Amino acid sequence: MKHYLQHDPWCIVETDFHREFNEVTESVMSLGNGRHGGRGSFEEKYSGKTLQGNYVAGVYYPDKTRVGWWKNGYPEYFAKVLNAANWIGIDIDIDYESLDLNTCEVRDFRRVLNMQEGFLEREFVAVLKSGKELKVNAKRFCSIVDDEAGVIRYAITPLNFDAKITVTPYIDGAIRNRDANYDETFWDEVRKETGYGEAFIELRTRKTGFHVATGMCVEIEQDGVKVDYQSQPIKYEKYVANRISLDCRQGQETAVYKYAVNLSSLNYDPDTIIKEAHKSMQHITRKGFEKMLLEQKQAWADKWKTNDIVIDGDVAAQQGIRFNIFQLNQTYTGEDERLNIGPKGFTGEKYGGSTYWDTEAYCLPFYLSTADQKVARNLLVYRYRQLGKAIENAQKLGFRAGAALYPMVTMNGEECHNEWEITFEEIHRNGAIAYAIFDYVRYSGDEQYLADYGLEVLIAISRFWSQRVNWSAAKQQYVMLGVTGPNEYENNVNNNWYTNYIAAWTLRYTIEAVAKVKSLDPTKYAELIDRIHFREEKELATAQQIVEKMYLPEDRERGVYLQQEGFLDKDLMPVSDIPKGQRPINQNWSWDRILRSCFIKQADVLQGLYFFEEEFDTETLRRNFDFYEPMTVHESSLSPCVHSIQASKLGMHDKAYEMYLRTARLDLDDYNNDTEDGCHITSMAGTWLAVVKGFGGMRVGADGQLSFSPYFPSNWQSLAFKIRFQGSLLQVTTTQQNVAVTNFSSTPIRLSVLGKVITVAGEGEELVAFVPQ
Ligand code: BGC
Repeated sequence: MKHYLQHDPWCIVETDFHREFNEVTESVMSLGNGRHGGRGSFEEKYSGKTLQGNYVAGVYYPDKTRVGWWKNGYPEYFAKVLNAANWIGIDIDIDYESLDLNTCEVRDFRRVLNMQEGFLEREFVAVLKSGKELKVNAKRFCSIVDDEAGVIRYAITPLNFDAKITVTPYIDGAIRNRDANYDETFWDEVRKETGYGEAFIELRTRKTGFHVATGMCVEIEQDGVKVDYQSQPIKYEKYVANRISLDCRQGQETAVYKYAVNLSSLNYDPDTIIKEAHKSMQHITRKGFEKMLLEQKQAWADKWKTNDIVIDGDVAAQQGIRFNIFQLNQTYTGEDERLNIGPKGFTGEKYGGSTYWDTEAYCLPFYLSTADQKVARNLLVYRYRQLGKAIENAQKLGFRAGAALYPMVTMNGEECHNEWEITFEEIHRNGAIAYAIFDYVRYSGDEQYLADYGLEVLIAISRFWSQRVNWSAAKQQYVMLGVTGPNEYENNVNNNWYTNYIAAWTLRYTIEAVAKVKSLDPTKYAELIDRIHFREEKELATAQQIVEKMYLPEDRERGVYLQQEGFLDKDLMPVSDIPKGQRPINQNWSWDRILRSCFIKQADVLQGLYFFEEEFDTETLRRNFDFYEPMTVHESSLSPCVHSIQASKLGMHDKAYEMYLRTARLDLDDYNNDTEDGCHITSMAGTWLAVVKGFGGMRVGADGQLSFSPYFPSNWQSLAFKIRFQGSLLQVTTTQQNVAVTNFSSTPIRLSVLGKVITVAGEGEELVAFVPQ
């Protein structure tokens, strides 16, 4: 745990330069706009610990797999999120001395991520070896209005000298991924050009052939007035720059404005991409920095209007939730159905791929409640479009007849993760994709989605489950052997309760969805079953049989479901028995020791009880929670949020709060000692769930009715959150005295609060208050 970042409701603040944590701060202070983004690194040269990272959405590299023993069925590559051209760089040299915060004395340092307005600002005084003191104020953002643009205002003021200062803004495409398997470079240069105060470079990825055009344009102001300058163009391989020499007087501020654009061939024809980059550049330079900043502030204000969660009385909790909401909005905007939400977003390289089960299991509900309905729909359509690849993936493993196994990690629908225990065995991901369809349809009421896309995916996933189980003569039940559940600290187990349950549930839901689509849109249904050769009677009968006869391990005496067969043979002990200094166990124990231990990485049985809570009574949840939570090390970022929601439901308020803080401040406090690799973006959606579903008690019932049962931790004064629901925008405000629901839409909405059904009139004027029981 680290506590060097200041608590503040709207900003992430680093005062004093913490060199030792610089890579952590860079992750936390990342900027993005759904289209491109990067880590909060310095513009000027920095010879200390840093991971310079800039990423362009959807642009990846298939890095050749590196494994010890090749196994049939492994994918050929691991899709790397590609570190792209560095567009932020501005070198500063004063009389042959370079500005480098690693080699000079740093005073009055402050790095601030302003989440309310969407920019990163840094100021400091650098005392160079020569004794020269230079004041710097740098502000930059990735525009969410012009989403191919990023801009920087980099202001320098000599405090105790007059000098010629050389400023070299550049674009550097000679970038390597730190996590490259064979230390190769992934980019080739296509063309480059430089002009007065500007430069453009076009790079192409090896193998995948993505083109990215990056451009920069530089303007200089002294004492607030734009000045002409001499610029010397510089070109090296994959590198373009302009060297600008400026006379700077003591006390005079010189501001360098660096405008940048990043265009990718996902959106432009490679033949004209450079031309388009010029057009984009003209567009933003015409607007200018101040106007762009104003628009950025306005756009963020609009986002916060529908997204914000306000916690009164606990600044650490407030900052945590806003940080999570901010990063999620920076990562994915839902405007492009080809994109998805990588576990690290634009904040780091580790993990590769852009899509995990995290999207469906954790992120979908966030976007469903905070963005236009089409955003969540796009996330589902993304998987629909990849169904063909999921069927191919299953075929490679020996499945047939249209069975689909979605990949554990993917960029384009192909599996690109290669550890057998995950690639082949962590098949529960298929269930989460089916569950997301259910979640979306219930929340949005958009049943037509099933007819248009959903049912086809459900049938394909169900076909997989039907083939993946086998009949056990000994048990006289269906079993599923050789799997890894969500808890990755167990591999190759038989009858993981969660996987068996979600498989049976998918089959059940598919049977229901068939009936629904048949009556809703018989023509589409007929067309679909013909196209995919669905033998309705036979396939549904098999599905029904598996549903009825699926083996679900349990211990009746304890009243708990068993994570897997044989779980009780383990030496059961609580996490508190792990000797001090040995956590996280994944950084201290051998894999063998972890696998044999009872310790659980993340919610597994409890993940099932979370998804399917209506199918279990509260006492069952309590028994399972009491049994499993004490053995859970929460070493996946996805873990604490589920536990927080369940603890809320069980009235274990202290536990819920402890788990909430752990998820909300996971990266801010670097709980798992791994934030330097990037932030845990997907689990941030889990944080939101911990507030809205946990403290807010929000649910949508089988009848489609929205309900809330809010409370908040005892050290809070109030909690207010907004959600969108079927065209309405609602705010739920809970204070010590009452719960108020405001409906900002024009139509009244019927919902239940603390068990009481009410109708809240629209137009934002009606306020219904309750005294909590
Ligand atoms: C978790 C997985 C998750 C992945 C990406 C792993 O540590 O165990 O459940 O999908 O991280 O977030």
